[in-house]
Amino acid sequence: MTIRRILTVDADMAVLKQKSLPVPVVDNALRALMDDMLQTMYDAPGIGLAAIQLGEPVRVIVMDLEKGEEATAAPRYFVNPEILWASDELFVYEEGCLSVPEIFDEVERPARVRLRYLDYHGKKQEEDAEGLFAVCIQHEIDHLDGVLFIDHLSRLKRNRAVAKVKKLAKTDA
Ligand code: CO
Repeated sequence: MTIRRILTVDADMAVLKQKSLPVPVVDNALRALMDDMLQTMYDAPGIGLAAIQLGEPVRVIVMDLEKGEEATAAPRYFVNPEILWASDELFVYEEGCLSVPEIFDEVERPARVRLRYLDYHGKKQEEDAEGLFAVCIQHEIDHLDGVLFIDHLSRLKRNRAVAKVKKLAKTDA
């Protein structure tokens, strides 16, 4: 397993805006990517990561709402995830993103969704999500379509967020 560089909007916007392609088969090479993604996410730390955030344009997501805390670690893997149904009821959550460091803002999304995906072993799964799980999986599936959480904000807020990340990257360099 390798900790890899996470792409950010200041330098890698064009890659992050790409639409990721479905995975044809869940094999050992894909599992190696998922292992790298999980380790990179834990190191960051974050609770969700899409493959495109490592520059890999495939429809793969890793998640651990417990941030990998030793006693409660609960890594999850979602290959080719699809939303089959979304509630009319909405839920507002203050989101952040490893590709948009240090920016947090409220995004409104369906409160509950039904998912279909392939798991780490390539087995087809269906599952309902609500609460933080629903927020996170919708945020990550957006990444697979080249959509960032700041794209859900007003244009003013979005531009301000990108400018802030650029400034931050300069200061860090
Ligand atoms: Co994100």
